[in-house]
This record gives sequence, structure tokens and C-alpha cells, in this order.
Amino acid sequence: MTQTAADRLVHRRPAHSLERDFYVSAEIFQQDLDQIFYKEWLFAIPAAQLRKTGEYARIKIGAYDVILVRGNDGEIRAFHNTCRHRGSILCKASHGKVAKLVCPYHTWTYDLDGSLLWARDMGPDFDPGAHRLHSVHTRDLCGLIYICLADDPPDFEAFAATARPYLAVHDLHRAKVAHRSSIIEQGNWKLVWENNRECYHCVGNHPELCKSFPLDPEIAGVSEDGTFSASLQGHFDRCEAAGAPARFVLSDDGQYRLARMPLEAPAVSYTMDGKAAVRRNLGHVSLPDAGTLLKFHYPSTWNHFLPDISLTFRVTPISATETEVTTTWLVHEDAVEGVDYDLERLTEVWIATNDQDRSIVEDNQRGILSPAYTPGPYSPSWESGVIQFVDWYADAMTRAQAPKAMAAE
Ligand code: FES
Ligand SMILES: [Fe+2]
Repeated sequence: MTQTAADRLVHRRPAHSLERDFYVSAEIFQQDLDQIFYKEWLFAIPAAQLRKTGEYARIKIGAYDVILVRGNDGEIRAFHNTCRHRGSILCKASHGKVAKLVCPYHTWTYDLDGSLLWARDMGPDFDPGAHRLHSVHTRDLCGLIYICLADDPPDFEAFAATARPYLAVHDLHRAKVAHRSSIIEQGNWKLVWENNRECYHCVGNHPELCKSFPLDPEIAGVSEDGTFSASLQGHFDRCEAAGAPARFVLSDDGQYRLARMPLEAPAVSYTMDGKAAVRRNLGHVSLPDAGTLLKFHYPSTWNHFLPDISLTFRVTPISATETEVTTTWLVHEDAVEGVDYDLERLTEVWIATNDQDRSIVEDNQRGILSPAYTPGPYSPSWESGVIQFVDWYADAMTRAQAPKAMAAE
């Protein structure tokens, strides 16, 4: 039997980048999908993207094609985009608004809750109740919609219980989408994450972001012993005293992290002049310099929540060497473009940063495509977050294989 990714990870060099195949091989990419993306809870969209009944968004994850739609009762549900008749896709567009979900092939018609309402001439014994759309597990965490493709999803509640107080103060149910961008990076999804988890590269690559994001490895990384500098601890304490949960939390399995980090004073938001991007705050974080609540949740999302805006990022693997990164800028639903915010000012820092990161990731991928590439060492101070991500990945892949190995014994 050929070695699985998990077998090979056992022999990896700690605190080093992975072997070439982990970034280029179609077989390992498939194992990443099977063991991680088809099993874990994934961030899909902010609920604010579907504000009205019948609005839908379509997401593809590996072989799966999923529709998220807001129902008549206001709930957002997710369904597999495959008709229960002969399997045609139901929604062809990436997003839209419908009264019902109507299959384009023979017009079987489904309600927004997935029930089959109408199917022509199917005979007296046909049971519409047995032909509901296949549903996908869905959770709404304070306005962040998560889905899980597994039949039997892992626990979500421990993460939700931890994240809820941090997120609740940002009031995402009162948000609207000010802007959304999707870019395709010609790089493996793990390279996208590795790049995200460090700011070693920031000074040379992100002039716009560096106006507000601090060049301090403590901000992007993880503390090995759980302690922080006095100034960072002071920031956490000040935020918490003002009612905004801030303390650093890293889950035991390393899958998620929450921490409200300061921006580079005097910046209060991700703008070129450091001033707020929106006149009207989203949520009720009263401290103007509360900074940014950084949340990551592997494998699908990192986020920034500030007093005036919230930003969600979704990582969707497309192939071994292509990844989609979708960014959504959320503002208060009553904020008026051109009055309370200027769209270009609101988005310019992260549009530039995303494009710079795309370019870096693509260069990284190109270099790794060379057979001469060998795993290199991560900086223990600047790249602690990358080490943490790669350790999580190796653990997740190993854990996913463990039940099979045990069953075989
Ligand atoms: S495949 Fe959908 S109605 Fe026939
Ligand atoms: Fe970057």
C-alpha cells in the first residue's frame, strides 16, 4: 500500500515547511479534502450576505456544490445543489434571489426549506416527502454561517460557546455587505494559510497594511507558554474592562484562536490614515482603540472584527495549486455609502494586501514546484503561528486516519 499523507507526516522535520508533495500532489490534495474539508465545520458566508427571503449563495468545496438560502422563516439553510429527480444542479448562478428552487431540467420545484412542492406526472405512488433536497449541516454563530459536509459532524458547540461572547459585541446580525471580493491564488491552500499566519513578510510587502497593523510577532503568532508582554496584557485588560472580550484563547487542538489585538497607534481601523473607515460603528465596542479581534478557525477562515467594520475571509481549496480567497467587508446596515463611508477608503488597504499576499503565495508555489525545493526552517519568533498551523494540519491528518488504523489492528 502506498504511504498516506498521515504516514509521511510522522517523519516530517518539526518547525520546517512540509515536503514538496504536500503543496503540489493531486493525491495529497484529495486526502486534504477527504480528511479535513469534507469533515470539519467550514465558514461559508456572513449571514448578512443573505438578508432577504429567497436570497441564495452557492459554494463549491471540492466535489460538493452547496446552496445556502434564507427561508420564509428567516433561517439560513444549506442544501446540496443536486436535484432529487435525476441530479441536475438547481442553481446555476453563484448567487441570486428566488421564490422557490426550481430545477432547470424538468422543473421539480422545492420550497426554500428543501421540501419538494411540485413534480409533474410522477404517478400515484410517488412520495414527495421522500424527495426533499439533501441538506447540509448548518450553524449560525452570531451572524457567521458555518456548514459541515460530513454526515456526522464533529462538535461545534465548544467552539461556539468560546467564540460567542467575543463575537456578540460586534452585532453581525445588524450588518450589511459593503463589498465582497473573490480572488484565485495559484497556490496550495496550506501556503495561503502559512502566509496568513505570520507577519515576517509584512514589512517588505504590505506598505498599506503596515500603516495600521503592528509589526510585532506577538500579534500574529502564538505564545508558547501562554504569557504576553505587559503592554499586550494591558490592552486585553483595558478592552475587557470596557466590555469587549479580548483575552487570547487557543483551542487545545489548535483549530481556532481568538484575541483582540491592538493596532499600531494611533490607528483605529484599516485605513490609509488610520482613522475609522465608517462613521457609524458596527456593534458596541466602545473603546475606539480596541484594535482588531483576530479569529482564525482552520481550515476555512480568518477574520478581523473592529469597532467600525468586520472582515471575513474564506479559504476554499480548488486544486493542489489553486485556492480561492473571498473577503467580505461588513458595515452597519444603516451606514450609507457616500455619507457614512467611502467604499474605496473602506476597502483599499485589504484589496491591496490581498493582492500582495496572492503574489507572495504564487511565488512561493512556483519555487516549490521545482524538484530542487527542500523543506526549510521557520523562524521561532516570527513564524510561531506557521509552526502552529502546520502542527494542527499534521495532527488533523493523523487523527483522521487513526480510527482506520485502530480498526485494522
Ligand atoms: S433532474 Fe431536476 S427535475 Fe429532472
Ligand atoms: Fe500578508
